[in-house]
Amino acid sequence: MTNAHERASAAYQRSFGRDHAQAARAPGRVNLIGEHIDYCGGHVLPMAIDRDCVAVGGVHGERVRVYAADLHEWLECDPGELHDANRFEGWRAYAAGVLAFTFEAMRERPRGFEIVIASDVPLGAGLSSSAAFEVSLTTLLAGLMGQSLDAWEVARLCRRAEHEYARVPCGIMDQAIAAMARRGHAMLLDCETERVVGHMPMPSGDDVSLLVVDTRVRHAHSGGEYAARRAACEAAARALGEKNLCEARLAHLDALTQEWRAIARHVVSENQRTLAAAEAMKAGDWSGLGRLMNESHDSLRDDYRVSCAELDTVVDAARAAPGVWGARMTGGGFGGCAIVFAPAVAMPEIRERVTREFRARFARDCGTLYAHASAGAALIS
Ligand code: GLA
Repeated sequence: MTNAHERASAAYQRSFGRDHAQAARAPGRVNLIGEHIDYCGGHVLPMAIDRDCVAVGGVHGERVRVYAADLHEWLECDPGELHDANRFEGWRAYAAGVLAFTFEAMRERPRGFEIVIASDVPLGAGLSSSAAFEVSLTTLLAGLMGQSLDAWEVARLCRRAEHEYARVPCGIMDQAIAAMARRGHAMLLDCETERVVGHMPMPSGDDVSLLVVDTRVRHAHSGGEYAARRAACEAAARALGEKNLCEARLAHLDALTQEWRAIARHVVSENQRTLAAAEAMKAGDWSGLGRLMNESHDSLRDDYRVSCAELDTVVDAARAAPGVWGARMTGGGFGGCAIVFAPAVAMPEIRERVTREFRARFARDCGTLYAHASAGAALIS
């Protein structure tokens, strides 16, 4: 099968009858730990995976022409129309927002160009296909205009496109890791100050140590649940007199209603677990990291309530397999993917077992892939 770069290049040639001038890539991600706390000013520990979204393009003509090669769909408009957030829906809203804000960041008036996008990040699987799409598009457009934007500026303008055009009230994690990941490392991010605390080395060598299991249950975060959790966190923080819920103390949560207390307990304890996980990584304590990942999943399942039967089945099956360090859901939840962290030698058996138990329970297959820590967005030379 061809990869995203080949598909995008071939589709560009077919659509426009010439070669593209520039290409850019940005990766999907898993989150090792630190879930649902980026929008509460917490610490998160995502890792870019070796699955990319690739955008290729050239500056030609008067119109904006963007082709999503995997979907066989076009976005066509006049450059001036990009500023109208209400004109666009679905993937076109993401694209239009990112393009409008990238021109703004470059202090350039929107102009015509041709772009083709293809992606190897599974869509809507909780592996941050949207951020990979956004960041690859920004990187390409800046490249086409001969500009280089600061990575944080890229992350922020892409998040703004999600908020204002796609109407998804996401945090900064996905865009930040897509823009700034370092190969072979996970990244510890402080979402309160918006800075990279450090790049944490993953187990070295070619050892596969991360299995991604896709439940193939799809969930769109523009739907109610994600926004409802975020609103509950903000309300709980206000009730406690804190700017961010992560700053609250566990001992003070009794003042909250039962529902908010559970939500706050997840947020506060998840932030602590993430900091402990970074320490474990520094010490090369992989089983310690795995234990924290397990606790994270349990907290998301029981207190934050964003897991589902399919994710729990994968996690339980993985944890029962010999040699597993830890397993948890990753990303927004309500479906999508779980990750299993274990020594490479144990992986084939774990994969077999998880696949078998998933099929026995749901009478269909889950998807699996091994993930390696990859680098953040860049132009492809
Ligand atoms: C989605 C959002 C992120 C983050 C995660 C949950 O991926 O885009 O900002 O909130 O969910 O950790």
